[in-house]
Amino acid sequence: LRRVPLFAGLTEPQFEQLAAGSARRSYPKGRTIVSEGEPSQSMYILLAGRAKVQRSDSEGKEVILAVLGSGEYFGEMSLIDDAPRSASVITLETSEFIAVSKEAFKAMLAQSPDMAMSVMRGLVRRLREADKKIETLALLDVYGRVARVLLDFSEDVNGERIVKNKLPRQDIAKMIGASREMVSRVMKGLEIDGYILPLPEGKLVLREKLASYIS
Ligand code: CMP
Repeated sequence: LRRVPLFAGLTEPQFEQLAAGSARRSYPKGRTIVSEGEPSQSMYILLAGRAKVQRSDSEGKEVILAVLGSGEYFGEMSLIDDAPRSASVITLETSEFIAVSKEAFKAMLAQSPDMAMSVMRGLVRRLREADKKIETLALLDVYGRVARVLLDFSEDVNGERIVKNKLPRQDIAKMIGASREMVSRVMKGLEIDGYILPLPEGKLVLREKLASYIS
C-alpha cells in the first residue's frame, strides 16, 4: 500500500486508517470488477496485471475507453459523485488489486489535501486523454485511428517504438469504433507498406513514418 503513489502524502495514522478499510484481492482473466450502471462501494488500485475500461450499448456493442496497468486506479468517480458506475472494468489477465472502501477513500480525501490533489491530477489527466480521443475520432480516418492506438500502446526499446503486449484486432476495433475486419485490412496495409513490422508473440515494431498518419 505504501508504494502506491496516490497514498504517498498520508501520515502514519491516516495510513493505518486506510489500511483498515482496504483488502487485497486477486482475480483471473475476464473477471468484471466493476459494472457499468451499478452502485459503488469501493475503488481499486491495480497492483499487478491489466484491465480494460469499457462501456456497452443496449445491443451489446462495446467501446474500450482505456486499458489500465499496474499502479493505476479506478472506481473513484462514482465514489466522488455518488452516481452509478460510469463504465465496466474487466481484467485482461490474472490481476491483483487493493480494494479501498468508500468510507476510507472519502475520509482520506477529506483529511489529506495531497491525496485530494493527486486524485484531481488523475481526473485532469484522464480528461486530457479523452480530449485527445475525441480529436482522433472526429478528425482522423481509420488508418490514423489505428496508428494512434498503436503509438499510444507502444514504448521505446533501444530507440525503437515497440508494442510489447499482444493487442487483439478486436480490441483495437472496440477502441476506434471500427469493425474487426476493417482493422485487419488496415493492419495488413500498414504491414505491406512498411509502416509496421510484426514480430513473434503478437509484438510489433512501429516504423517512424507511422506517425505521419496522425500529424
Ligand atoms: P467509476 O465510474 O466508479 O467506475 C468505472 C471506472 O472506470 C470509473 O470510476 C473510472 O475509474 C474508470 N474510467 C471511466 N472512464 C475512464 C476513461 N475514459 N479512462 C480511464 N478510466 C476511466
